[in-house]
Amino acid sequence: MCGIVGYVGHQSAGPILLEGLQRLEYRGYDSSGIAVIDRDGALAVMKREGKLRDLQAAIQQMPSGATGIGHTRWATHGQPSDRNAHPHASSSGDVIVVQNGIVENYRELRAELQDQLDAEGRSWHSDTDTEVIPELISKELIAGRSFEDALAYAVGRLRGANAIAAAHRGDPDRIYAARKGSAGGIVIGYGDGEMFVASDLPALLPHTTTVYHLEDGDIAVIDDRSVRIRQENRTSFQPTPVQVDLDPVAIARGPYRHFMLKEIHEQPRALSDTIRGRARLEPPSALADDLELPIETLRSIQRVLVIGMGTSLHAAMIGRWWIEQVAGIPADFDNASEFRFRAPLLGPSTLVVAVTQSGETIDTLGAMNHVRQHWGAPQVAVTNVEGSEATRQADASIILRCGPEVGVASTKTFVGSLAALYLLACRIGHAQGRLSPHVLTDRLEQLLTAPSLVERGIQRAERCAEIAQRFGTASNFLVLGRGIEYPLAMEAALKCKEISYVHAEGYAAGEMKHGPIALLDQEFPVIALAPRGPLFDKMTSAIQQVSARRAPVIAIGDEGDKDLSELVDHFIGVPPAPPLLTPFSLTPVIQLLAYQIALTRGLDIDQPRNLAKTVTVE
Ligand code: AGP
Repeated sequence: MCGIVGYVGHQSAGPILLEGLQRLEYRGYDSSGIAVIDRDGALAVMKREGKLRDLQAAIQQMPSGATGIGHTRWATHGQPSDRNAHPHASSSGDVIVVQNGIVENYRELRAELQDQLDAEGRSWHSDTDTEVIPELISKELIAGRSFEDALAYAVGRLRGANAIAAAHRGDPDRIYAARKGSAGGIVIGYGDGEMFVASDLPALLPHTTTVYHLEDGDIAVIDDRSVRIRQENRTSFQPTPVQVDLDPVAIARGPYRHFMLKEIHEQPRALSDTIRGRARLEPPSALADDLELPIETLRSIQRVLVIGMGTSLHAAMIGRWWIEQVAGIPADFDNASEFRFRAPLLGPSTLVVAVTQSGETIDTLGAMNHVRQHWGAPQVAVTNVEGSEATRQADASIILRCGPEVGVASTKTFVGSLAALYLLACRIGHAQGRLSPHVLTDRLEQLLTAPSLVERGIQRAERCAEIAQRFGTASNFLVLGRGIEYPLAMEAALKCKEISYVHAEGYAAGEMKHGPIALLDQEFPVIALAPRGPLFDKMTSAIQQVSARRAPVIAIGDEGDKDLSELVDHFIGVPPAPPLLTPFSLTPVIQLLAYQIALTRGLDIDQPRNLAKTVTVE
């Protein structure tokens, strides 16, 4: 959720930390802060509520120092404010800490530390859970422990999942990082006589592509030339860094007004890259070299459960559809945050597929952990981030090749996840002998048209802008879909909510008459997803019912569909797609509609209020 950066080297740390935070701002953006220490151990901390630009102005006044840590926050405990922004210092003023995650037992730890604070005549200076960490470290330092031991002790006392960076005035040539559980990653970047720490790669890429990802339980002791990892069992080693193959240009906004718009336009490419080499026609095969599950496992699957959250859940719902229709085996989907607390019954031979673009979403990781501990069922992660926690927990992964997604609203990773799930359905169906070579070829040929379907959908941007101009001030939208378009209706509504702040509901069209229809009047626009297909007539019946209540209907259907366009008030044509592939033709239009509505409302599209790109807290 929050973004963490750290630097130790020979340059002034402040500007480097700030630039790193700018590249991680999508992780959280309600407040931010930086702390630097100079060679003599003088510490300066600057924190500001609001966006990073507010901090940027303030750090001009900051003394320089070549060691430091920084943080961009998504508030959990305590409102966004200067005092609750990180870094947090110990009451002694010696120890500074930034954290991503939640200290679940912070009340208990506060009570325990209260005596020490009372004795010193000090009080807590924030409402955060994080502040107990520097205090715990400080207490151990006073008791004579080294900083490394004190940090290890403090981390050991925390309940929950935490990613931490810390520094100490008495040790100005080092920074420390720790990772406990699945609170998002910590990655160390190796420079030339300087080292970097970040929650995510984009902050490191301008400086280095040589990196090391901390594992759960690691504590890293970092100076300007080396890293030492201390594990929970107190053994230490010098890690071997790896090279990452990511282009810094991929994380620049380029000529686009927003990352979201750029990423919508990148979808055809993201799809082609994700499919490349994985859908072969002669002889036909899907994911032949990309799914490290034994063939016996694939053959023995009797049921597939697809899980995820938010947009990834909507991809999971569509994936369920394909696994049933393409692979021909029973499949279901579930909201990962509900799944594990229901004590679910998986039964024998269930394959669990976890969809998570970030690979860090705590609800999804919790569900995967539940599966591993209670069922030992095979798991496949569908994710855009190689080496992410989801890939570590899964038995096999399908890595999307969408490139970094910076906009908080998932766009290109949604279509990438769809392609991966479709390929997985083909792979399972093929392994189980349920898809003849002829049918498999046909399915794969259809998938290969997906990038062009998306491309042509994107060309409807102008029409989406016209509709947004007309309905940009509406307070509500109902989005209707049937069959494979029902999850898309939910995705359209989610996009409207998260970036346009407009109340929108995605409904199965058949459900509308069972209640939601009571909402409709001439002020309540309805978006109907109505491409030609087996359920088209039923969809048009629902549209008639809407029109009879005088609610304006915006239909998204096949280009040139005269009957439909004459039936509704507003029409957006998309390229006709085979019935199983309509998610690819419709997705860009629902994304662009939400984008354009947000634009007409003048909203902060890449950093919508209250949200963060990666949700690492429960
Ligand atoms: C999507 O636009 C949202 N930002 C959000 O719903 C997201 O899809 C969800 O948090 C899951 O994230 P993940 O794919 O990284 O697991």
